[in-house]
Amino acid sequence: MKAQLENIYSLAAADIEKANCINDLDEIRAKYLSRKGEFNEIKKNLKNLSDEDKRIIGSLANEITKKLETSLQEKHDKFYKEELNQKLQKERLDITLPGKYIPRGKVHPLTSTTNEIVSILQSLGFSVVESKDSPEVETEYFNFDMLNIPQDHPARDVQDTFFTTVAKNVVLRSQTSGAQIHVMENQKPPIRVISPGRVYRNENINARKNNFFHQIEGLYIDKNITFGDLKGVLNEFIRIYFGSSRPTRFRSSFFPFTEPSAEVDVQCIMCGGKGCKTCSGTGWLEVLGAGMVDPNVLRGVGIDPEIYSGFAFGMGVERFAMLKYAIDDIRLFFNDDVRFLKQF
Ligand code: DAH
Repeated sequence: MKAQLENIYSLAAADIEKANCINDLDEIRAKYLSRKGEFNEIKKNLKNLSDEDKRIIGSLANEITKKLETSLQEKHDKFYKEELNQKLQKERLDITLPGKYIPRGKVHPLTSTTNEIVSILQSLGFSVVESKDSPEVETEYFNFDMLNIPQDHPARDVQDTFFTTVAKNVVLRSQTSGAQIHVMENQKPPIRVISPGRVYRNENINARKNNFFHQIEGLYIDKNITFGDLKGVLNEFIRIYFGSSRPTRFRSSFFPFTEPSAEVDVQCIMCGGKGCKTCSGTGWLEVLGAGMVDPNVLRGVGIDPEIYSGFAFGMGVERFAMLKYAIDDIRLFFNDDVRFLKQF
């Protein structure tokens, strides 16, 4: 029996030696070591042996089984490693391959300019009005009447204003100033608001004019507000937007809803005041309309001009963006050319 065992062992060891893969090893294990394998067949005959032989043959069988298990396991580990390495080689990811290009969206320069102006004014204490106080489809009441713009004022001219067929007196707003009236009708002073939005004018389109554009309106009403406050706030605003070394100047002007009124210029950012094409040789660029709110306007919305005073201002977003980025044609903002938009 001992010889039988040793014979089977050497056959099994030779088989293991010849094995080429994990599969071969599994077959060898089944052939020799499974319940129906050759060793078990021999072990079945142990019962016919003397106690002494049982012990000797039994321990020899165990020893041989253990040896085979060990060499099967070693070989298995070796094959497993090899197969894994082969797989990793074959299935390697090439992380240097370029990815799928997804173009990235950008914020439109008018949006970023609006955001910048709004956040400067917010830092100076103004808050943005609710959209219900700033409709683009407006009545003449808000766009003109309450702003002290009489029926026969040239600003109402059909050549400037887009009238609608929705109803009589309904227009596309020609300025954001109507938001002042909405706010003052809904809110008691102190009032400190800004209102950005789109306005419409029936213009011939060219490099400097489009039939819609964007404005930001401002309004500050409280007790004891003076022209000094107006100058202080607007100078500070311009200083932050255009840079502290850029001089400003206030010119006397006229708007129906402010008295006195002013236009605010900054020193030309192209020529530094020497005079060039952009500033028509004057050295100055107009950037704001402003003034002390006319007592007539305050009375119209039920605010007593003997107690309260205030100032208003308005500016064009396109103009601010064109000056900051040296853009010479307003139409570029609106024709969706990504070559233009990508630059911002
Ligand atoms: N609404 C004026 C325009 O469209 C701009 C303006 C001027 C607004 C003076 C104001 C202001 O609030 O006080 O030309």
